Amino acid sequence: MDKRNTPYLSRSARYELSEDIGRNHSEAPTLGDVISARLGRRSLMRGTLAATAIGALTPPAALLTAGAAKAAVGSFGFKEIEAGVDEDHHVAEGYSADVLIRWGDPVVAGAPAFDPEAQTADAQEMQFGYNNDFVGYVPLPRGSATPDHGLLVVNHEYTNAELMFPGLADAEGNYEIDALTREQVEIEMAAHGLSVVEVRRGTDGKWSVVPDSTYNRRITARSTRMRISGPAAGHPRLQTNADPTGTTVIGTFNNCAGGITPWGTILTAEENFHGYFRGELTEDMPEYRNYKRLGVGAGEYAWANYHVRFDLAKEPNEPNRFGWMVEVNPYDPNSTPVKRTALGRFKHEGAGMIVNADGRLVAYMGDDERFDYLYKYVSKGRVDLQNPEANASILDDGTLYVARFEESGKVTWLPLVHGEGPLTAENGFESQADVLIETRRAADLLKATPMDRPEEVEPNPRTGKVYVMLTNNTRRSADQVDGPNPRAENAFGHIIEITPDNGDHAAETSGWEVLVKCGDPSDPAHGALWNPAVSENGWFGSPDNCAIDNQGRLWITTDGNNYAYSGRTDGVWAMETEGELRGTSKLFYRVPVGAEMCGPAFTPDDETLFVAVQHPADGGEEWPEFGRPSTYDDPSTRWPDFDPNMPVRPSVVAITKNGGGVIGS
Ligand code: FEO
Ligand code: CA
Ligand code: CA
Ligand code: CA
Repeated sequence: MDKRNTPYLSRSARYELSEDIGRNHSEAPTLGDVISARLGRRSLMRGTLAATAIGALTPPAALLTAGAAKAAVGSFGFKEIEAGVDEDHHVAEGYSADVLIRWGDPVVAGAPAFDPEAQTADAQEMQFGYNNDFVGYVPLPRGSATPDHGLLVVNHEYTNAELMFPGLADAEGNYEIDALTREQVEIEMAAHGLSVVEVRRGTDGKWSVVPDSTYNRRITARSTRMRISGPAAGHPRLQTNADPTGTTVIGTFNNCAGGITPWGTILTAEENFHGYFRGELTEDMPEYRNYKRLGVGAGEYAWANYHVRFDLAKEPNEPNRFGWMVEVNPYDPNSTPVKRTALGRFKHEGAGMIVNADGRLVAYMGDDERFDYLYKYVSKGRVDLQNPEANASILDDGTLYVARFEESGKVTWLPLVHGEGPLTAENGFESQADVLIETRRAADLLKATPMDRPEEVEPNPRTGKVYVMLTNNTRRSADQVDGPNPRAENAFGHIIEITPDNGDHAAETSGWEVLVKCGDPSDPAHGALWNPAVSENGWFGSPDNCAIDNQGRLWITTDGNNYAYSGRTDGVWAMETEGELRGTSKLFYRVPVGAEMCGPAFTPDDETLFVAVQHPADGGEEWPEFGRPSTYDDPSTRWPDFDPNMPVRPSVVAITKNGGGVIGS
């Protein structure tokens, strides 16, 4: 094993770096090729206008003076909070933000109490995992719309060893990856995956986890056996010594966002799976081209030291068994999670699903890396909402499409089907399984549009529009600017609104336009685009997750919020998408220092918003009041316990309106 001395970089900073590599060398047209006559030029112009804070937005009604726009009535009644940074979280006046469950809290019946100084893998297997990201609420009983009793399904994306293990990191925050013991590696593996917990809202309006519920479950990278289904299941490229059938695999990891299927199961997204595999990637390896496009090989975890399957030299096919969407049935704690290969293999951010008018399932999905693509999956069969069991093949049999944005304001959805166009044996695709295993390379050949890191994508069932979060891409050069990615060195990201033709999500074309270009509207250098009515606290950067409440209103959470510029933590913003205020947003909630805001999820009555506070205290040196790297022993905040004997803990928070009522009313 290579012994590397790891200069201090938090795990999230490492992911940022990894995403900065920009592995897509596709020659698909970018700017110059696709200078969008319709929106590219107009967007550039808008950027200039935004600089003087009179930016124009469609619809033209938004062309108002700031004063007039402020007088317009928005759909959110709460009083905006002030953006900033400190050790705690903050929610709008009149609301409560209560910590529901924290890293280490018991999940499964019989779980021991959290003892961070004497943590074990077996304990962690029964306790709430690290770095909660996606949160999904499904009601109990199944198929109901119960707003105060249900199951929460939570992803645990990754681990911050420097914040989890006493004494591991030195005062500079440094530690050697290979210094992790076998037990620490096992704890990390057990802290990845998902938790399912039964939750209930009491007569006092407060939420709690139902202890020892038979629904409560941990799914981990360490122990949970999963089935592989769909066109790539059983393919020789998925076979290993441990699984010569290529149909079963232990674990899921780096589960970022996800989605709830119309029949009440969860899709969880395997995102930066490449970071767990180590070993030299050499050109003579059969999977060289595949792994190079995904960055496999330069792993940042020590798992390979104790599990040969994470060592490329020993199990060269193991990485092909990750990077999928995984279906989990939270209603059956004994169910086997299923990796659904028909949805493609890439750095899956999540899945925003909708039942099309004709009954087919459509799932919109982002591949979160600079210059990667936007996808959608359309099922062959129709969803049966009465009988959940009848939907077993919906996610196995369908067509995966990748988006090409045209300068005319049109999206063309290109089918990734073996034998069509360049997806032939000549290009290394012998079957549909090959197309799915190497989805990115197939999409390169179809000349899909390289995007500024597509994160969560959500269809709005009320309006039929689809919202795409594009978090940022500082590597886009001026000659790569195009309509859908309208800024060079795009540090702040933007949001695209897609309108399916005739409301048909399965159609092979849609329309698109830019909703907002993020950044500070008062700084001309940002070229930001907001409705001029946006307040000083209302703008943000680096949109990541989003949710649409049951009234069809859009809520956005950020990853980083460009802290180095803004000095503001991540949070939840309520975004107007209709009427005169379209393109304004308001800050509703913000996280403690170092944290990322994930997992927004509403109950069916919109009276509770669950959010996931991920990696609080991560970093540390960039906050002047702390000014040094955060470690387990010396974190920038000890949120949420503020107990000197407790480490900082990622946690899920339930936000409710005091005295009851709809969130944001
Ligand atoms: Fe895990 Fe793309 O954020
Ligand atoms: Ca994250
Ligand atoms: Ca994300
Ligand atoms: Ca992100």
